[in-house]
Amino acid sequence: MKDTSVGALIRSRRAVRKFKEGIVPDADVNEILEAGRWAPSPANRQPTRFIWVKSASVKRQLQELARESKELSSYWDPIFRPDGTSGLVNDVERPEVIAVIADPTKSLTNVHADNGFEWAAAMAIYAMWLRASSLGYGAVFVQHWITEKAKRILNVPLSWTFLGTFTFGHAAEAPVVDRLPLDQLVSVDRFPGRPRP
Ligand SMILES: Cc1cc2nc3c(=O)[nH]c(=O)nc-3n(C[C@H](O)[C@H](O)[C@H](O)COP(=O)(O)O)c2cc1C
Repeated sequence: MKDTSVGALIRSRRAVRKFKEGIVPDADVNEILEAGRWAPSPANRQPTRFIWVKSASVKRQLQELARESKELSSYWDPIFRPDGTSGLVNDVERPEVIAVIADPTKSLTNVHADNGFEWAAAMAIYAMWLRASSLGYGAVFVQHWITEKAKRILNVPLSWTFLGTFTFGHAAEAPVVDRLPLDQLVSVDRFPGRPRP
């Protein structure tokens, strides 16, 4: 019997970057947005907003910007060149695209950190990623944007944070990745401390 537990979902969720053509019903998009809506935020200030990009022409502008963003990064790091290990320009035309933005005025200031609004948005992205995966979609979050240009395309206030785009659709690949084992990630009492038994 297939393991449908939350633990199995967390382990099996992958970053899927290749998508097939195919309709995603609005009900599924709404269900995925609902997962973002229910993500936690500092004092429940709910700083995250979602832009569901439906227009083919706006998607085309984003696609061109995705290419330009990689090209700019490749100036400093060759892995982003077209033939580099991270050279793939993310597809933002075939899948559904949800841009995720966060309002800095809906944050708390505490002793050292005032960026809780961005943490909250990141948690919303992971919630959507898990929900999309549980519905059988391939998905990936893309942070690789020249953010000011993305904000201009999507009419986002300059002072807000544009976290990136969450894209999901019908998967055309099934990537396999691994993680470091827990004994390399977890220490006990002090860092690096003694390894976890
Ligand atoms: C903050 C963040 C930013 C990411 N940005 C990109 C991105 O710009 N383009 C991309 O293809 N994948 C991006 N990813 C996906 C990661 O490459 C992917 O999660 C990682 O390689 C681990 O693979 P997995 O998600 O399949 O376990 C991003 C992931 C995170 C958490």
